[in-house]
Amino acid sequence: MVGRLNHIGIAVPSVEEAMETYRTLYGATEFVQPFDMPAQGVRVGFVNLPNSQLELIEPLGDDSPIIGFLERNPKGGQHHVCFEVPDINEAAAEMKASGATVLGEPRIGAHGTPVIFIHPKNSHGVLIELMETPKDH
Ligand code: CO
Repeated sequence: MVGRLNHIGIAVPSVEEAMETYRTLYGATEFVQPFDMPAQGVRVGFVNLPNSQLELIEPLGDDSPIIGFLERNPKGGQHHVCFEVPDINEAAAEMKASGATVLGEPRIGAHGTPVIFIHPKNSHGVLIELMETPKDH
């Protein structure tokens, strides 16, 4: 069973520009400054909200997994929704047993804990990220 909403993933052409939008237009004041995740092909930064986070993701490298998404949505767009789960391997096994399409094997996500992605066809068009709850929560 899914736990709390951890973050909303938003693909953008520039993490810095998107952060500036959330700062100036929406008054956000807390950010996790952008950092590269070469293994995932993305550059990531966070807008910290009182109850959740926005994960801003920008393509890193020519074979970034979000390049196609940004070609279809040049100004950016809502990319995925991330829920926490207690154990990523159990979650992956349960999803597969339920007939869902798990994209790839568990890998370390932007919060340093393992994540999996569930194909949008299984969730009404929404790409779902399941993330193991950080141990310090
Ligand atoms: Co995410």
